[in-house]
Amino acid sequence: MNLKKTLVSTILASTLSLSASALTVGAADIIPRPTEFTQSKGSFALPAGALTFAVKGDSDGRIANYLSLLPETFTPAEKPSKADLMIEIGKGTGENYTLDITQRRINVKAPSAAGAFYAIQSLIQMTGTKDATELQAGRITDTPRFPHRGLLFDVSRHFRSADFLKKQIDAMALMKLNKLHLHFTDAAGWRMEIEKYPRLTEFAAWRPQATWQDWCDNGARYCEKTDGRATGGYYTKQELRDLIDYAAKRNITVIPEIEIPGHSKEVTSAYPEISCSGLPYVDEDLCIGKEETFRFIENVLDEVIDVFPSAYIHIGGDEASKGGWRKCPDCQARIKTEGLKDVDELQSYAIHRVEKYLNSKGRDIIGWDEILEGGLAPNATVMSWRGTEGGITALKSGHKVVMTPGEFCYIDYTQDAAFKEPVSIGGFTPLKKVYSYEPVDPSLTPQEASNLIGLQANLWAEYIPTDSHAEYMYYPRAFAIAEIGWSTPEKNYDDFHRRALALNTLLDSMGYTTFDLANEYGERRESLTPVVNSAIGAKVEYTTPYHSKYPAAGNSTLVDGLRGGWTYGDKRWQGFLGDFEAIVDLGKSAYIHSVAATFMHAPGAWVHLPQNVEIEISSDGKVFTPVETIWSDVDPLYPKIMMKNFAVAANANARYVKIKAKGHDRPGAWLFIDEIVIN
Ligand code: ACM
Ligand code: ZN
Repeated sequence: MNLKKTLVSTILASTLSLSASALTVGAADIIPRPTEFTQSKGSFALPAGALTFAVKGDSDGRIANYLSLLPETFTPAEKPSKADLMIEIGKGTGENYTLDITQRRINVKAPSAAGAFYAIQSLIQMTGTKDATELQAGRITDTPRFPHRGLLFDVSRHFRSADFLKKQIDAMALMKLNKLHLHFTDAAGWRMEIEKYPRLTEFAAWRPQATWQDWCDNGARYCEKTDGRATGGYYTKQELRDLIDYAAKRNITVIPEIEIPGHSKEVTSAYPEISCSGLPYVDEDLCIGKEETFRFIENVLDEVIDVFPSAYIHIGGDEASKGGWRKCPDCQARIKTEGLKDVDELQSYAIHRVEKYLNSKGRDIIGWDEILEGGLAPNATVMSWRGTEGGITALKSGHKVVMTPGEFCYIDYTQDAAFKEPVSIGGFTPLKKVYSYEPVDPSLTPQEASNLIGLQANLWAEYIPTDSHAEYMYYPRAFAIAEIGWSTPEKNYDDFHRRALALNTLLDSMGYTTFDLANEYGERRESLTPVVNSAIGAKVEYTTPYHSKYPAAGNSTLVDGLRGGWTYGDKRWQGFLGDFEAIVDLGKSAYIHSVAATFMHAPGAWVHLPQNVEIEISSDGKVFTPVETIWSDVDPLYPKIMMKNFAVAANANARYVKIKAKGHDRPGAWLFIDEIVIN
């Protein structure tokens, strides 16, 4: 049964189904995989129209109201005793449920409306499966592994409408995700109405350029809301209350993030008096020395907690530059009077103080793992993004943690071969990679692991200008987060992949844009088989050292025959800041036909091709003869990720080969090289 089926197509389908073969769908076909299920004999034949339902214990009418929104799928039974679907709700709590499918009817039992809601989502996935005609009889006993199963929406870099968010809430509910993290303050725009500080939304929410990239390329300036060029926007409190209510009816909590003290240039530009310099467009961070800053934070948080019922308030805490604090007399005075050691402790002072304030209002803070630096606030929950170490440290000291390590959970990274994907920040995080993530590190004791409350995927939106592009990045990778967050840890990617194709098809039929998983290209072909050549195992002497963050396999990386994949983070690409120079010693003189070296271009991550690559050869390692210099023919601003092989013909005898690569002039530009191939 298709959710969007019209009456005409329903009649046609039911006529045709006499000859068409039955498609039986069941517990084995949904995402997340139910905790436990058994199959019994027979099946429940799906009616041509909607399933009739009856609900017991629905004290506030929440479940019946929700079902009434889906009239093509569910309709109230005239006689409850004859309903296709009988739902019984207890007076308890919990997201668990049982779902019994027999040949005659479907019975749901849940301790709470949340559990009943999730049983319904399981049914919507089954009945909505393309061409499904019957449900496999059996019993599902389902309960989530983690209480926090989230997605982050970055509406600062590109503003999205409340309707867009509601649409994503429906998709999240379908896969039993229950936390929507709203990242709505950052340098690219402030997005929440705050009555005490109107400049945040009259000015800091608007830009003359629609896309983040154009805005950056044009000096990253805001404009007045009334400016004819103004693009962007913000949510009124009324819109937010409505959104929060819409989410709550779907068992989703909206967690607001107010970024402090870093990522705050929109604030210091609208209200420069709470920055260190006192000037607009200078400071990324709020000034921690000035009392007025804390008045601002507390006033803003008062309005935030008035609107958001979430127990957690996310206070950011990541990537404060701290540069202004080192020179600011107010910040330095604060360090002195509070007996702090350095600017790290100054950050920690700010976080502790804000935590105390929020605790006094009955709320808890959650923040990015930098809040560990300089001492963690006593009741803080950590969101571990720079790998898992921060999260593990916090768990070992008894704090609660949400895992969202970049390598697995940053879905702004490219999900397929860069050449066929839209421009992105870089990386390579296909569905299989996200799905492979296991949040509980083996070093944790059961007691420590019990504070790991879940995981989430983050879609940072610098390179995601449109709504449909955002959906394309979420689905299907959000399915993997949903399954890791809900199901038991056993994994079978082939089975998950089969179910992900079906859920993608269902989302497509409901009007979402999804990644075309059926036509996934996958990893860079060249990286799949070793490249046989005479440089393998040779000695490499580095004139320029590789960066300690990107050593790959160390000194053997460039001559191990292994080419890198689509991302410089895969430990096959070696990274250099500035230029590159190394000498390959083949051990003895040999006839060299050609020399080649491959570099990566990923400008979103400051990874650039060399301007040129120079090859020289030598028989004694002292006197080198130039062979050729090859210049890059790639536009340094070409926005997509690509690899370029710089190859020359040598046709001479030599033992030593020198490779010199001139880095890009952009300050902080990286060079990444995966292999030197000599034949
Ligand atoms: C982050 O990605 N800066 C949390
Ligand atoms: Zn300051």
